[in-house]
Amino acid sequence: MKEQKLEFHYEVYDDISELSQEDASLLSKAREVLNQAYAPYSHFNVGAVARMANGDEVKGTNQENASYPVGICAERVLLGTAANMFPEMAISTLAISYGGKNVVSDHPISPCGMCRQALSEFENRVNQPMRVILGGLKGKIYILASASLLLPFAFTKEELKK
Ligand code: THU
Repeated sequence: MKEQKLEFHYEVYDDISELSQEDASLLSKAREVLNQAYAPYSHFNVGAVARMANGDEVKGTNQENASYPVGICAERVLLGTAANMFPEMAISTLAISYGGKNVVSDHPISPCGMCRQALSEFENRVNQPMRVILGGLKGKIYILASASLLLPFAFTKEELKK
């Protein structure tokens, strides 16, 4: 038996003022766009903004449904839009924030499991990691070098090869 260890590094910032101008701008836009979420059931708004490899930006917010499982997270809404507006183009950086009327948004949240799978597949598809900025409306901010760091032992298309 051999025990293996898996670890990853990420950056922690105390405040948006510590970020580069580009990163601060992207996180600010994620904080703004969450107001466009359709979340009448959870009242938990999530906003995501991606800077594409060509510098253009794509936004996404969670879109809920009276048939609850039909709802889609902000991240996957964004990935679908990115893939259609900019086919096969990589995402350089993705910022994710959250808020809502009764939501205390004072720490970073991390994408759900299904979104981690989707983000990981997107990186594989375009063959480039995306940096991820996670932050609430206030509080600490995390920056990861790649979304795939959030999903070790990911199931990938390689497994489906005959
Ligand atoms: N949600 C997202 O949009 N992204 C996440 O990473 C976590 C959860 C949404 C789904 C649902 O509309 C609401 O937040 C509460 O779970």
